[in-house]
Amino acid sequence: MKTKLSLIALATLLAAGGANAALLRIACGSTGGELELCKTSVNEWAKKTGNEVLVVTPPNDSNERLALYQQILGSGSDKIDILQIDVVWPGLLASHLVDLKPYSKGAEKEHFPSMIANNTVNGKLMAMPWFTDAGLLYYRKDLLEKYNLKPPVTWDDMAAEAKKIQDGERAAGNDKMWGYVWQGRAYEGLTCDAVEWVSSYGGGNIVEPNGKVSINNPQAIKAIDSAAKWVGTISPKAVLNYGEEEARGVFQSGNSVFMRNWPYAWALSQKDESPVKGKVGVMALPKGGANGRNAAALGGWQLAVSKYSKNAKLAADLVMYLTSPEVQKMRAVSNGYNPTIASLYKDPDVLKANPFMGDLFSTFTSAVARPSSVTASKYNQVSNQFWNATHDVLSGNSNATDALGRLDASLKHMGPWK
Ligand code: GLC
Repeated sequence: MKTKLSLIALATLLAAGGANAALLRIACGSTGGELELCKTSVNEWAKKTGNEVLVVTPPNDSNERLALYQQILGSGSDKIDILQIDVVWPGLLASHLVDLKPYSKGAEKEHFPSMIANNTVNGKLMAMPWFTDAGLLYYRKDLLEKYNLKPPVTWDDMAAEAKKIQDGERAAGNDKMWGYVWQGRAYEGLTCDAVEWVSSYGGGNIVEPNGKVSINNPQAIKAIDSAAKWVGTISPKAVLNYGEEEARGVFQSGNSVFMRNWPYAWALSQKDESPVKGKVGVMALPKGGANGRNAAALGGWQLAVSKYSKNAKLAADLVMYLTSPEVQKMRAVSNGYNPTIASLYKDPDVLKANPFMGDLFSTFTSAVARPSSVTASKYNQVSNQFWNATHDVLSGNSNATDALGRLDASLKHMGPWK
């Protein structure tokens, strides 16, 4: 009887794929080609190790994904072992994540130190960096040439060029042509765009590292009021409901001169089936006036292991594989995801596929972080108020003086921040 039972148990185990086989679930992203790419690497690891991994797809919008993660983690559920988390979340989610230090064998030393610092909470390594992001300006090289224009230096230059080309192309028969597409929906993406405008005009960073609420200042007001003028002139009114993919859809089909987006849009714009293949330039976002500066928001995604996973050790092993130089290189070459490992920015294959990674290296290393460290567990509330205030101005329901004045009062009330 005893022998029979253990034989049945053994057969069950073998059917599951081997004596130590486990089933892991990973939530990765689904913007552009992200999902397929995640599946490819995950399947390689599964094959190598004899385990099974299910890839689940969370919502695209960062803040909606956060809400879902918080719901799952808040209930202590073991339904997700590995989570792809935004660069602004380590502080928010730390209490639900596993310290990866015991599993990393020092691999974190190869990554940009600022990203490891960002992912370290109370001395614990809560996530491994997977890819980094910075806001970039995409433009139509062919159209700028056709109209004898140089890539713009300031936002005002950009708006003037956008208008000129938009008018010219419409007169020539393309009535779908727009000057500039970007992320104007009331969500985390708008926070990124607006942090860039404000910072480029020298208007600070909403809540400063020393805890001071700085958003109510003349430069920030100017930045947001200037952006509001684009809506309905060089940008379609629908931009108020655009995320990354909507903006890319318009630009990649050939119907916008300029686009603000993250690096992932590059590889997609260069695919054979892309109508703008070979016609696209990538540069730093414009300055806020002659005395302003180029400012890119720092984005990017990390991989973390849930504290409620029943297979944390194995999950950490998959995280270390996915964030390894080998996989990061493959993701950079095939799909333009920016590595978080400095040495890969000198790799000839990476640079050949993505010349902008070399040309704009300093854009990536000096990108502006959103105020997630100083606002920690309240970051999402702060960001939510900021994007709503900005959206109010963009949609003409308020002006920046009033909207940022109200935001200032509300953020001070929510503090103190230090
Ligand atoms: C990108 C960035 C991320 C940001 C998001 C906003 O995915 O990498 O950091 O929060 O866009 O839409």
